Parts: sequence; structure tokens; C-alpha cells
Amino acid sequence: MDHKHNDAFPNNFLWGSASAAYQIEGGWNEEGKGPSVWDHFTRIPGNTFKGTNGDVAVDHYHHYKEDVALMAEMGLKAYRFSIAWSRIFPDGNGALNEQGIQFYERLIDELLGHEIEPIVTLYHWDLPQALQDQYGGWESRQIIEDFNRYCVTLFERFKDKVKYWVTLNEQNVFIRLGYEEAKHPPGVTDRKRMYEANHIANLANAKAIASFREIVPDGKIGPSFAYGPAYPYSNDPGDVLAAENAEEYLNGWWLDVYCDGEYPKTIWKYLEQRGLSPTLEEGDTALLKSGKPDFLGVNYYQTGTFAESPLNDVFQSSKENHDGKKGQFKESGIAGLFKRKRNNTLETTDWDWEIDPIGLRIGLRRITSRYRLPVMVTENGLGAFDKLEKNNVVQDDYRIDYIRQHIEQLQAAITDGVDLIGYCTWSFTDLLSWLNGYQKRYGFIYVDRDETDEKDLRRVKKKSFDWYRTVIATNGGNL
Ligand code: BG6
Repeated sequence: MDHKHNDAFPNNFLWGSASAAYQIEGGWNEEGKGPSVWDHFTRIPGNTFKGTNGDVAVDHYHHYKEDVALMAEMGLKAYRFSIAWSRIFPDGNGALNEQGIQFYERLIDELLGHEIEPIVTLYHWDLPQALQDQYGGWESRQIIEDFNRYCVTLFERFKDKVKYWVTLNEQNVFIRLGYEEAKHPPGVTDRKRMYEANHIANLANAKAIASFREIVPDGKIGPSFAYGPAYPYSNDPGDVLAAENAEEYLNGWWLDVYCDGEYPKTIWKYLEQRGLSPTLEEGDTALLKSGKPDFLGVNYYQTGTFAESPLNDVFQSSKENHDGKKGQFKESGIAGLFKRKRNNTLETTDWDWEIDPIGLRIGLRRITSRYRLPVMVTENGLGAFDKLEKNNVVQDDYRIDYIRQHIEQLQAAITDGVDLIGYCTWSFTDLLSWLNGYQKRYGFIYVDRDETDEKDLRRVKKKSFDWYRTVIATNGGNL
């Protein structure tokens, strides 16, 4: 659809950038913080690229004032960050650690002092290890109460300072990688357990939102979903059906529950026939329906392209590209539902992620049509090898191109009728990529460290820093 003119970005549009506690903070055991499942998981040899962990990360815990000053210099309107649950409750559900909460209070005050809107993510994957040990974390319904208590503590403490909140970051990723593919903690490969844990996470999400309504009636809250819209590989109806299957199985399975409080019928039936559907207890559906979000957070990196897959299809377990050497894509899928193909119309990053700005517009439109909710893009960005040149220069024109093309599609989506409230790039500073070490960089700010050497953790503005500053200053007028 070509428009005669594009609408301008709204005046109060939240031009932002994002991060997550484990990936930036460091200070892993400071000021009373308890260990998280990631502190534990990264210590097991072979789990992460070159054994990297977030013990120091980019030491934001001690550099937060400098980092916020850089955000202010850039003119950032919003900054999305996550709170580490085990800083607030070191053992997950026992005594409150006042020092931990004070760190975030200082950060929030620093942001507000520079007129930067804080967007707080309550859970970005770093579950207190104590809860994993006590009752198996997301596999026990006890977590619904414990997560609620943690969230309510933060709502009450920060309700006058923080308007925008994100509940769970990418539930579809941490549950699938944690319980199906064993690439994230707790390292399980069991689909029945995955669907049970996922259902419990849905209930925890809904309960936290329902509590929020009582405590922060004028605030806005929603989950952030890793949305990869599904495309058919060809116009063969078998491929089109496979793409429908993928859209429901990989996206609707979460989005329908968040937005409507119900699972999609087709996938429910598919899982039920195989003994995989989760246990629905009395009151679950009512709870899910009571926790509808104000907006949907969308983390967008790529689309997926799907072809028909017969029931006797066999897939090798996919080798993932964690070293940035292009060309490691392998077909994966679920026999009888879909198989994922390379989309040869699209370029890829060095980590084989397909680059598809129009896919962002398509995704935002699907959400708008199906759920009629406002959307905030809570993550979008390019992981790339950056080179620190002499005189503190990083020429990341490829990142500028990537973000520009995505912002153009945002504007087209707004013109299509999407109610878009903000855009957070991933990420503000360079940070630890969970499974890919420090060499897969996303930031506007280069942080001088690598996998083996923490160096001086110096902050260096990349070329994209000045470019995004102009985008914000012109409210998207000058791309
Ligand atoms: C999202 C996560 O999945 O993608 C981020 O919310 C993550 O935490 C980002 O860093 C990029 O993924 P990766 O694997 O390149 O670090």
C-alpha cells in the first residue's frame, strides 16, 4: 500500500533505546544481590560463547551516571531497562534487599532528572537461582505469587516515577530455549514441561497486570513479545497453510493469551491430541482474562519463511550461528506443521538473521488488525562486528542503514493506522549477547572490552550516535 503522504510521528513519540540487567550491569554479587539462573548457567562449561558471563558485563552498575549522561546528550526520550529480581529479593521470595532497590531508584531519578522516560522491564530472564532450587522456577505455580509480590513491591515503590512497565520479556524465547532446546537455563528438553511452564508464566503475567491496575491505575503495562511474522515460502497452498500453522504455533500461542485470555483453538487441539496441552485449572481462564495489557511490546528482529512439512519429515537439531560466520542456516521445523526455509529475497546479518524492514510493518499491522491494541517496539537493532579505529571512531554506517530502514517502515505503519507509542532500539551501549559473547555489538556506544579482556570499559560514541540524535531532534523528520 503506497500512501500519498506519510503521517508524521506523534509529538509525544517515545524515541528510545533498551538494555537488560544481566547484559549490562555487572556487579553480580554486589550490595546484597543473590545469584540468578544466568549466574549459574554461564558457569557451566560449554553453555556460552567462549565461556562469557555477565559478572562484569559493561559495568553499568558503576557507570550508570555516565551512561545516562550519554543518553541525555543524545536527546533520548525513553530508556527501557530491566530490574534484576535477585537484587530486590536475593532469594526470590524472602527478605527485601533495600540496597538493591536503591540502585534502581538512583537510576530512575537520574533518568527523570534528564527528562528521559523510564520504561521498566520486570523480568528479562534472570530468575533468582534460589527459586529454581526451591521449587523448579517456572514449573511451579508458587512462582505466580512470588512474581506478583516482587512486582507489587516495585509498583508501590515507583508508581509515582514510572509510567511504562513491561512484564515478561520474550516469554516465547526464554520458555522455548529453556525447556525445549536447553540453550537457556534451566537447560531442559521436554515439550510437555515446556507447555506447563509456559502456562504458569502466562498466569504470572496476568496476575501482575491485574495487580498493576489496582496500584498504578494511570500507568501502562504490557509484555514484550519476540514477534517473527510468518511468510509462506511459495504460493503453493500447502506452503500457505504451513505459514498459517507457524503464525498460530509460534506467535498466536502467546499473543492470543496475552490479548484475549485464550489459546488459539487449532494449536490447542494439535497439542491436546499429542498429550502436550497444559493443565488448565479452575480459575485460570478468568485470571488470564483479567490481565489484559494496555499495549503490546514488540521485539522485532526478523520474519520467518515456512514451507509444508510432511509428517515423516526429520530435522537435524539446528546448529546455531554463535560465532558470526555467515552461512550456517539449517532447515528446522515440526513435522506435519511447517519447516523453516531461508528466504532468498533477504540479506542476512553475520549471525544469519534475515534483514527485513517491511516485515516489521507487516507484523505491526497484523497485531493491530487482530488485537486492536497500541504497540510499543521495545527492541529492534543490528548485531554486528564493529571496529574501534584510531581517534575513537566507529563507522557503523551499516547500523544507520538498518535502523533507518526500520524507522521508515514504522512511519508507513503509523500511516496505515497502527497506534505506535514508541520505538526502542536494541541497544544503547554495547552489551553481553547471551550466547554470542561481546563481539556481536548492538549499541550506539562502543564499550571497549572483549570476551577475554575487560580492558578499560571505555565508552566511545559510534557514528550512529549522532545520526540517531538528529532523528530524535527532528521527530523522525530527518532520517
Ligand atoms: C532479544 C533479547 O531476544 O534479542 C535481548 O530480548 C537480546 O536480550 C536480543 O540480546 C538480541 O539477541 P542476541 O542473541 O543477538 O543477543
